[in-house]
Amino acid sequence: MVQSFSPHVFADYDQLSAAAARVVMEKMVMGIETKGKFVLGCATGSTPEGLYKHLISLLAKQDLDLSRLYTVNLDEYFPIKRSDPQSYYHFMLTHLWQPLAAVNSSFDYQSQTFVPNGEATDADTECRAYEEKIKAMGGVDIQIVGIGVNGHIGFNEPGSPADSRTRTVTLESSTVEANSRFFGSIDQVPKQALTMGIGTILEAKEILVLASGKAKAPILKALWVLEEPTVAIPASWLLSHPQVSFFIDREAQTE
Ligand code: GLP
Repeated sequence: MVQSFSPHVFADYDQLSAAAARVVMEKMVMGIETKGKFVLGCATGSTPEGLYKHLISLLAKQDLDLSRLYTVNLDEYFPIKRSDPQSYYHFMLTHLWQPLAAVNSSFDYQSQTFVPNGEATDADTECRAYEEKIKAMGGVDIQIVGIGVNGHIGFNEPGSPADSRTRTVTLESSTVEANSRFFGSIDQVPKQALTMGIGTILEAKEILVLASGKAKAPILKALWVLEEPTVAIPASWLLSHPQVSFFIDREAQTE
């Protein structure tokens, strides 16, 4: 069953991002101070950019020991070089890791961050090792999740099983097209990806879903009327998580 809950609706993208950053920072401070460690599940795409920007500003004002902060990403294109400006590795480097290391020298992104390796020679071995890494870290404390216009989460496209684990997937043509805005042309978009499975994502202790802008309104509308999760909409499984929050802006809200 899905639980009944309402999304937190913010006036605009900046307010949504600032609020999401405050939530992540509070959890991070609590995790580091009480457990001595915090595992942040990261997402890429346009939606979490504002959260990372605000998070860096907040953390710049804190004297927090970030040597026990770990970040673990949902997904990566496959194959792709880490140095490719469109790789999710590169996205994280420029939007979070480097700016964070610049304001807090205790954060060593070389050893504290994990993204599925788009350069792996054996994708299956890489996916199994990624699952092991997450387990060894004690699981994800809070997972940030964006939503694709077709309802995908990470790169779990419609039809992905609820108990799926980290694996290689083929992207839907709508996803390739949506993401071609970041690449020179549609032909340059990798057609495969390595992604945490829906089952992997649901094991996070807490999930923070972000959605902004008109383009996300139809998929959110489809979510709110569901009574049961469905494989047709991967994001619908998030509704069954006991600790999930949706932060959306007015444009993404349906009338
Ligand atoms: C990509 C990513 C997803 C992301 C989605 C939405 O396909 N794999 O993790 O949530 O796009 O992206 P955006 O935030 O740019 O709308």
